[in-house]
Amino acid sequence: MTQDSNLESLRYVDGKMTLLDQLQLPLIVHYDAITSVQDGWDAIREMKVRGAPAIAVAAALSLSVEILSMTKANKFSDTSALKEHALEQLEHLKSSRPTAVNLFNMADWFKVYIEDKYEVLSKDSVLELAEAIDEKAKKMMVDDVSKNKLIGDHGAEAMVKMTQKKDELRVLTHCNTGSLATAGYGTALGVLRSLHAQNLLKRAYCTETRPYLQGARLTAFELSHDKLPGTLIADSMVSMLFKNKMADAVVVGADRIVANGDTANKIGTYQIAISCAYHKIPFFIAAPTTTIDLSLKSGDQIVIEERAATEMKSISGVMFADPDIEVWNPAFDVTPATLITGIITECGTFYKPEGSDTFDLSSQIANI
Ligand code: MRU
Repeated sequence: MTQDSNLESLRYVDGKMTLLDQLQLPLIVHYDAITSVQDGWDAIREMKVRGAPAIAVAAALSLSVEILSMTKANKFSDTSALKEHALEQLEHLKSSRPTAVNLFNMADWFKVYIEDKYEVLSKDSVLELAEAIDEKAKKMMVDDVSKNKLIGDHGAEAMVKMTQKKDELRVLTHCNTGSLATAGYGTALGVLRSLHAQNLLKRAYCTETRPYLQGARLTAFELSHDKLPGTLIADSMVSMLFKNKMADAVVVGADRIVANGDTANKIGTYQIAISCAYHKIPFFIAAPTTTIDLSLKSGDQIVIEERAATEMKSISGVMFADPDIEVWNPAFDVTPATLITGIITECGTFYKPEGSDTFDLSSQIANI
């Protein structure tokens, strides 16, 4: 990748998929070939690709790659065999990581889509069904980028409105929500890109985001790559930043937003939101509506992934903590709706109804 090229978490051309190995960033830029659903599943589980929207798109494309290559090798006797295989593999993909709902939403919508296509095709239209799956997966990739651009613009507008600032916004973000966490542009980082494009961004602060360092390794890389004014801070510096009046607003992404607005996002998000409330700093979530899970009423119902101890005790294979010490390593936390100023989506920004501590996303979305 050159400094001028676009950052791409994944590439997909003519049924061939490659995926940027984010474990090696920022030192090594290397794309791995993904030739099957199992390759996609492994890359998601190992966090070579991560970020809620990117996980969903990577999973969908890995399905398409597998179905196309099996179809070309005449592995399906008829459309029924193809459909059964695709539905099984969608279920399998759901088991790769538990918290980000985009993957589950993608699998459920894809299942309905495949079943509908199957109904209208004749039994021997195997290639047509495979190509329909391919078209759908490619569309998900393209749609993700378009939604992110809308999120960026709605977010920039919401921030200007909330902070009453016409220029010189200084905004903190956490984890990585940029091109690397999506099919392109990014969600919370997309808001920063959009502010920058409108000359409204004075500085983007990014946290290191321990233990996996998505901020230091990925967000700092994206900010520098796209020449946004960026400053990296350790997670433990956030409250000091606010106390010193160095930030006007915060925008972060989400892995699952439930009906009342409680939001699961990268571990450390909750403590940033608490500090925002104390320092009276607006705290925004930015995510596509595919991250909203209306089936859950409260954040207490969200399954939080716990990851391996080695991910906390070592960096790039180098151990820096006592090998015998026990570790608790939840990958996400839940920020209660009370602490959230607004939820920025591609459809606009949702705020809490007058006099309410929580959002009412079911009715707010129904009214779009
Ligand atoms: O564990 P990760 O790196 O997949 O976690 C990523 C996050 O928590 C992001 O903030 C979230 O997925 C939104 S990405 C647009």
